[in-house]
Amino acid sequence: MIKQAIIPLAGLGTRMLPLTSVMPKELMPINGKPNLQYILDECIDAGVKEFIFIISKKKLSIKKYFFNDNFYRKILKKKKDKRLLEEYKKIKRYQKMIKFVYQNKPKGTGDAVLKCKKFIKGKYFLLLLPDDLIIRKNCSKEMIQLHKKTNGSIIATKRVEKKTVSRWGILSIRNKKKKYFQIKDVVEKPSIKKAPSNFAIIGRYILPNKIFDEIKKLKPGQGGEIHITDAIRRLIKKESKFYGNIFKGKYLDCGTLSGYINSGIQISKRK
Ligand code: G1P
Repeated sequence: MIKQAIIPLAGLGTRMLPLTSVMPKELMPINGKPNLQYILDECIDAGVKEFIFIISKKKLSIKKYFFNDNFYRKILKKKKDKRLLEEYKKIKRYQKMIKFVYQNKPKGTGDAVLKCKKFIKGKYFLLLLPDDLIIRKNCSKEMIQLHKKTNGSIIATKRVEKKTVSRWGILSIRNKKKKYFQIKDVVEKPSIKKAPSNFAIIGRYILPNKIFDEIKKLKPGQGGEIHITDAIRRLIKKESKFYGNIFKGKYLDCGTLSGYINSGIQISKRK
């Protein structure tokens, strides 16, 4: 069973400046709810019991958002606000599930994940990148089901336009079925010429705990960062089974300003 989810939150959010100069992008509201809360709710609905947040000294407001009890207690003592009480209860529920680790230098997703090693108890864990929202169908749930069926590691994927492949991790595929395929190789942000397909990695992974040892062996890759993609590549070369889950939900890219604006529009359409 997959009970733990790692969420890297130490990124600087430069694609969203100036908004992110004072507020972490993960707390920016989309249709009245912080981006990050969509990710948490997706995981909880899929059976996750514990979150490991990777933050930095610059992102302490994320900790404050979830751990600000005195503030709420004082206000609730003064006035019996039903709505606020409900919201506070929700925050208390999240609070019980969250642990923090720190990545003060942005050295890449692989480096961030490695910092969580001591907290991971199971054989597999979920990794979610909060820039990537998937709505209308729970992607983590789909992935857990595919993991149970295949006993392998899983990566969420969708086809993207060929001209955009250099923005993503790209999968090389084998034995494609309707909703999933086996992954033969992965490349981080290849050129159009070098891309083995147009199936892109979208920010959801079910990874084995043996990935930590592979991350340790990595040297900085594309853009000078330690990429989780490169550790996955090493595991595939060692015959670890990885599958691409072609998810059914709608993908929203919240990591850019135009994507963020569109996410608000798409999510409000749902109601
Ligand atoms: C990261 C991953 C990349 C993946 C993407 C999905 O890139 O490194 O493989 O396709 O997330 O959003 P980033 O968005 O951090 O540049």
